[in-house]
Order: sequence, then C-alpha cells, then structure tokens
Amino acid sequence: MNKFMDPDQQEPEKHTHLKTFAKEINEGLSQSPKRISSKYFYNKRGDELFQSIMRMEEYYLTDAEFEILSLQKEEIAEAIKYSDGKFQLVEFGAGDGYKTKILLNYLLEMGANFEYVPIDISANALTQLCEDLASEMPDLKVNPLGKEYFKALDDLKANELRKVVLFLGSNIGNFSLQVAQDFLKEISSRLNSNDLLLMGVDLKKDPHVILAAYNDSDGITKAFNINVLNRINEELGGDFDIFNFEHFPVYDPVTGSTKSYLISKRPQTVSIAELDKQFYFDQGEPIDMEVSQKYSTKDLNSLAENSGYEVIKYYYDCKNYFTDTLWKIKS
Ligand code: AVJ
Repeated sequence: MNKFMDPDQQEPEKHTHLKTFAKEINEGLSQSPKRISSKYFYNKRGDELFQSIMRMEEYYLTDAEFEILSLQKEEIAEAIKYSDGKFQLVEFGAGDGYKTKILLNYLLEMGANFEYVPIDISANALTQLCEDLASEMPDLKVNPLGKEYFKALDDLKANELRKVVLFLGSNIGNFSLQVAQDFLKEISSRLNSNDLLLMGVDLKKDPHVILAAYNDSDGITKAFNINVLNRINEELGGDFDIFNFEHFPVYDPVTGSTKSYLISKRPQTVSIAELDKQFYFDQGEPIDMEVSQKYSTKDLNSLAENSGYEVIKYYYDCKNYFTDTLWKIKS
C-alpha cells in the first residue's frame, strides 16, 4: 500500500475498495482542515465529467499538450525511440489516450519496436482505452496493467526491455511539491540508466488564465468536485445535501498551487451510515478537495535534480502554457 494510488487498483475485491474508501473518507473528514483525496474523483460519472472538462474552452491544458505532441511528434518520437532495441512505453494515468495516440501512431509509422503498457487509476477508463486501441491501431501491441504504478514497474523489471515512462496531462500536479518529489524518486529508483521519463506539466502563467481553468462558467468543475459527495452518498450511505456546498478554487502565483475547496454554506451535520458517524460543518468551513500544482522551468530543473533525473529537453506549446519534458536517469 502506498499513498499515491487509488486503493481500487490495488485490490480487485469490491469489498476491500469500499472499506478503504470508507476508512480514508473517515480519516479525511475527521481532520482539520477536512480533506478528501482527489483520487476519488474518478468513478464512471467522474470520468465523464473530466472528459467534459478537457473539452472546455477554459481548460487550456489539454489543447496545449495536444499541440506539443502534434507539432513536435517527430522529435519526441525520435528521442524516445533512440535505438533499434525493443522498448516498453509505460503510461501512468493513460485515461482515454487522446493525446498518447498521436505518439503511438507516429511510433508505429516509424516502425519502432515497442509495446504499449497503459496503467490507469480508473479501471473503467482502462477497459475503454484497450477496446479503442484494438480497433483503431490493430498493429499496436498493448499490455494493460491494472496495478498500482510502483508495483507495475517492479513487475516490469523482470523483463530486460528498456522503459520509457509517460506521465502526461499534468497529473503530477495532483501531488504537493514534496509528494511529487518523493513520487518521482520512487520511479527513478525503479528505472535503469538508459530509461526515460516524458512528463506533461502545466506551467506558472497569468493567474487569471489558471484560475479560469478551475472555475468554468458552466459549473463543470464544480460538478466534478461535488460528484465525490454524491459518491459518498451512494457508496457509503452518506446524506450530503450537495446544494449546501459551494465550489471555491484559488491560485497562489508565488507557490504555483491551485487548490479547490468545497465550502459549507451553512452550519450542518452530515451522517455517513457506513461509518456510523456524523460530521459537523461550520458555516464557511472548507473541505480541501484537490491541488493542481503549477511549475516554472526553474522549479522543474530543481525537481529533476532532487529526484534523480537529468533534464534532456523541454517541449513547449506556442503560448508557453505547458511543457512536456523529457528526463533521463541521473548518471
Ligand atoms: C487530471 C490532475 C491534470 O488538476 O488539472 C481538472 C484534474 N481538476 N479540473 C488538473 C482537474 C479540475 C486535472 N488533472
């Protein structure tokens, strides 16, 4: 067990997920400030809402990374392939593969000798992705792993193939700075000297642009946060009244952290049957829901240095909103 992954992926038994979910919700709502981990956003409804977020005007991240991968795919694919030896392209948080497919297609076109190993927090998303790939890219060798990230890397070590780890979409942003560093260290310690990491990171920029991405006018991001309360109601017998909570995102341009809170609109008590417990909320009391950390290139240089990597290259979109950065293991 580790702090980075959804326990759903660690233990296939329904009973065990529920128990872990219940335990973590209990711990989080008993803390001050109250918190709920954003890894619980991604059930079926949550996946759908995230798909809608990625299509939003305000959510520039997806378009920016799509542009980078589309316009610079030749250079990126060459750098990833770099020799004729077979390699494994291991993707953490593969999602719907919308962006990865650009690289996969180009690598196939180049005749690269590789196997694609998608790993995702959402079993629902992973099944969908594999079905898509089987019909869209019949020549692609796909080996999905429904495992926790580090466990997957440990298992993949058994084969001698070179590894290229993809961690796109600014998923690293969901970790605080310290946890991100620890996470990247755990990965580097499981990789060999010729392995690579290609990571998508959202950059510090005009604070208005960032805040708007987490505070869209249609309320989709709000619904994405509120969905977790519905999930607690459905799965743990909670009685959250979702109309009693307001979505409140903030961005701090100094630290680069974007945080989302759900704020209790009134004093209220929420019962969770599965926990046989009640939780009291003051008027104005926040639940800490998510961090979406932003970085500067300078921040990323330090992060690489402190977690066992050397930066090979930064690929940017035309607005310099986002970067996909290619790292190798520090020699
Ligand atoms: C999937 C973690 C990259 O933090 O930007 C989108 C999730 N949260 N809108 C992000 C999210 C609110 C997203 N990541």
